[in-house]
Amino acid sequence: MRQLIAGNWKMFGLTAEAVAIATPLLEAGALTRDLLVCPPATQIALVSRLLAGSPVAVGGQDCHTETHGAHTGDISAPMLRDAGASYVILGHSERRQNHGETDSLVRAKTLAAVAAGLTPIVCVGESAEERQAGWETAVVGKQLNGSLPDDFAGIVAYEPVWAIGTGRTATEGDVAAMHLFIRQALVRRFGPAGEAMPILYGGSVRPSNAASLLAVPHVGGALVGGASLKASDFLDIARA
Ligand code: 13P
Repeated sequence: MRQLIAGNWKMFGLTAEAVAIATPLLEAGALTRDLLVCPPATQIALVSRLLAGSPVAVGGQDCHTETHGAHTGDISAPMLRDAGASYVILGHSERRQNHGETDSLVRAKTLAAVAAGLTPIVCVGESAEERQAGWETAVVGKQLNGSLPDDFAGIVAYEPVWAIGTGRTATEGDVAAMHLFIRQALVRRFGPAGEAMPILYGGSVRPSNAASLLAVPHVGGALVGGASLKASDFLDIARA
């Protein structure tokens, strides 16, 4: 299966920046990996129009559990779809930490995303303290159990919190062990479908470390933060 290189722009991307990041992706030429960009909600429609007809997909970074209603400031999955998104990142550690998102909320959002025709990318990952205590698989296992609905069909992203935005990448050994653990959990729960579910790695992925991380067994691609804000770095990762 082709690997997916997904860019999570987080809260970056005024209009001129969004155009500067997205436009060079149109000139990428043939790639062996699929590309996805997840701009802030305000730029999804613009970036979708810019990339229309190209193989680069567009996604959101969060969605509400409901399709519409009195939820000031929130954005629903059908709205993301309507703006041109085909994917949505859910349960990112920054939302779990800063917005108190629980596994059951992430699960409800995942159901909403699928109902709207979006492919969910559900994020899991342990903190530095949890890893120090040796709890990383227990934490990730619990997040998977609680965040993925029973008929889950989507993508999982393993993002160790201590590797996000720190320049401190997980070792290939750490990634191999966790991705194998996640694969086994997915197969136990979803049977043969669990064999094929992509598991992305995220956390300080750069052009310099992408080739070795993407070569680790059960790594189905990368979820890239900082390095996705520069088209040349993002494309270098896709070509690594
Ligand atoms: P960085 O690549 O900046 O470490 O961010 C990773 C991330 O959180 C992607 O969702």
